[in-house]
Amino acid sequence: MADDLTTTARALVAPGKGILAADESTGTITKRFEKAGIESTPDTRRAYREGLFATPGLGEHISGAILYDETIRQTSADGKPLPKLLEDNGVMSGIKVDTGAKPLANAPDEKVTEGLDGLRERIAEYVELGAKFAKWRAVITIGDGIPSRYCIDANAHALARYAALCQEGGLVPIVEPEVLMDGNHSIERCFEVTEATQHAVFAALYEHRVDYAGMVLKPNMIISGKGNQRQASVEEVAEQTLRCLRRTVPGAVPGIVFLSGGQSPEQATAHLNAMNTMGPQPWEVSFSYGRALQDPALAAWKGEAANVQAGQEALSLRARLNGAARSGSYSEEMEAA
Ligand code: 13P
Repeated sequence: MADDLTTTARALVAPGKGILAADESTGTITKRFEKAGIESTPDTRRAYREGLFATPGLGEHISGAILYDETIRQTSADGKPLPKLLEDNGVMSGIKVDTGAKPLANAPDEKVTEGLDGLRERIAEYVELGAKFAKWRAVITIGDGIPSRYCIDANAHALARYAALCQEGGLVPIVEPEVLMDGNHSIERCFEVTEATQHAVFAALYEHRVDYAGMVLKPNMIISGKGNQRQASVEEVAEQTLRCLRRTVPGAVPGIVFLSGGQSPEQATAHLNAMNTMGPQPWEVSFSYGRALQDPALAAWKGEAANVQAGQEALSLRARLNGAARSGSYSEEMEAA
């Protein structure tokens, strides 16, 4: 079992490949659809995701796709379960198992992620439905006097309980403690909070007997707050992110896959590329982008069957460019292609 988990974790971060995050909850995907003028129904959501997953050659640069509960149960227009469609395209299925970030009691403006009740049984069902890995996202907000130690520890504890249950049930846990880029904070403050968060997460994973070799970490990059006057350069983001991760992530972890968190698709690719030009690291340095992979595809699709191919081409381009960023061989000129 432990060997299987390690094999899967390594395959998720194989050279040249990364993960497509397509696990938006119904509420979140509905907001994105509305912005693009697309109606959100179970069938439009199925059509959109079927289009993404059926992209020709998707498996060349995408190792796994993270699905939402609704999606893992859906079938393509011609009746194929979506996890099977992905498998036939060379892509492993993953599943978001948390039920969202909720207000943390006695901690104004802070959140804790829920979803542990009944998780053992849900994991068993997801394995039956074809899932090979899972995701749980904790949200840490930077603001006046926050995050509190209480918030960091509550989220680290939940992430560790989730990860242990996943490994027991045969899924590779993607452990995602996201420090948000919303706010006016400096890149230095982002570093400080991210380092503290990751230390707490790995301490909790250790206490909960999680096998580091059978998991993947999904962190934020070390980046200036969106509203900060000084936006750090690509080089600085890459250097500070690696400096932080080298201080917190055990070398036994096979790989790190970044979230995009509100960066533009081009920024997210440039940052990943820069990190992969900075010499070998103890772990693979990869991507698990949602918006940075999907936004151009959604904009091209516009909810119309006639645009499915245009959407697929937009996703293919981002997958290929991020695949190149895995080896530091991306350049801005490739955006024009
Ligand atoms: P973004 O890349 O859009 O931040 O999404 C990644 C993700 O899965 C967040 O949980």
